[in-house]
Amino acid sequence: MADRYLSFTGTAPGRFLTRRLGLPQPAPLERGAFSGGLLHLTAGKTDLDLAPVLARTGLGPDDTGRPAAVVLDATGVRDVDALAEVHAALHPVVRSVATSGRVVVLGTPPDPADHHQAAAQQALEGFTRSLGKEIGRGRTVNLVRLTDAARADAAESTLRFLLSPASAYVSGQVVEVGPAPGTAAPDDWELPLAGRTALVTGAARGIGAAVAHTLAGQGAQVVVLDVPQAEDEARRAAERLGGTALALDITAGDAGERIAAAVPGGIDVLVHNAGITRDRRLANMPADRWGSVLDVNLASVLRTTDALLAAGAVNRGGRIVATASIAGLAGNAGQTNYGASKAGIVGLVRSLAPRALAGHGVTVNAVAPGFIETRMTAAVPLFIREAGRRMNSLAQGGLPVDVAQTTAWLAHPASGAVNGQVVRVCGQSLLGA
Ligand code: NAI
Repeated sequence: MADRYLSFTGTAPGRFLTRRLGLPQPAPLERGAFSGGLLHLTAGKTDLDLAPVLARTGLGPDDTGRPAAVVLDATGVRDVDALAEVHAALHPVVRSVATSGRVVVLGTPPDPADHHQAAAQQALEGFTRSLGKEIGRGRTVNLVRLTDAARADAAESTLRFLLSPASAYVSGQVVEVGPAPGTAAPDDWELPLAGRTALVTGAARGIGAAVAHTLAGQGAQVVVLDVPQAEDEARRAAERLGGTALALDITAGDAGERIAAAVPGGIDVLVHNAGITRDRRLANMPADRWGSVLDVNLASVLRTTDALLAAGAVNRGGRIVATASIAGLAGNAGQTNYGASKAGIVGLVRSLAPRALAGHGVTVNAVAPGFIETRMTAAVPLFIREAGRRMNSLAQGGLPVDVAQTTAWLAHPASGAVNGQVVRVCGQSLLGA
């Protein structure tokens, strides 16, 4: 459903009226290409060799005074005094960042053995989140923590994503980039998934269809999995993408085996996207509504992941991306079943990620969408829908492609250093923030 308020505020009378009334002023997000360069700033004494990585992003140095992207290397901030350099670096330039521009702060994880360093680095999180809330005009602010500060190239795929239009609806996030076992820069950054097989569950429509489309656009051979009732839709989607369809209810006890049989060369990118809602308040919720949501959204993800890893059906260097939700982080009235299932995904990802990487060479991450414009959210009553759209720093809903692009970054062959992360695609929603 079209966001009429967003269109209205894009007109001169709309801008005038909403400003006078103190209403949100969403800026249409740039999802195409940036014009403008990159400004590289530092705070504290840094050893990070970032310049070659930034040079490869394709954003040249800013010479317009209106940078499309600003990177602040704050990995050298080790005490509270050095935080003054964060202010000194960004204060003079923040107003000039282009509409829909990007600010990325680079830090390191807070050190449990050094409470001064920990205070200073944790401060960067509050700083980033606060700046994200105030910066406006479709601009985003994110924090990347490098656990291995010597290896800037481990963060290349993450920086490329967060500094590009692909991350239009990702703001206020903290992403940790670890050491990068097996991370290889692809031969071709445009078609990084060439020669790889991706399987996306629930891909006949909605977010899953957008994920399948984006992964295919990056070169992947895509398997579009959906329930047998949606087989025609899945087949048409697969044909459009040059992929194949797999009609399968993911809750089937043997779903893992059937997927493995359908993809004999193994899976390189496994996206657990299928999900359902059966909303009721707990007092009115019969066991079947509870059970079906837990089964589709969580138990089947656990079952198929276990079966596919055990069978060696996820190739080394593979990527698993599961779908959580901000309802799993913040909770939502009427969604005890859904909130439980999506929080379960977060638990699964954080626990499995280090072992899957050590044992199988596979990363495991989650996307947590906020309000995304789909058939599901179009059916939400008007008032709740409007609240969902506006209650985030970008004051609008995201699009399926925003979740798809985030998934593609996590699925990227060069994203081996990103593991166990839960990345919200929510425009910095106020819920659970
Ligand atoms: P959707 O309802 O449009 O699409 C879900 C797809 O999953 C459908 O094609 C459906 O047939 C398929 N599916 C359902 N049960 C299945 C099963 N047992 N086996 C195989 N396929 C099955 O939903 P949407 O909006 O595209 O959501 C996709 C994912 O994103 C879900 O996990 C959802 O919980 C999550 N999400 C969506 C948000 C939104 O704003 N739309 C917000 C937060 C999370």
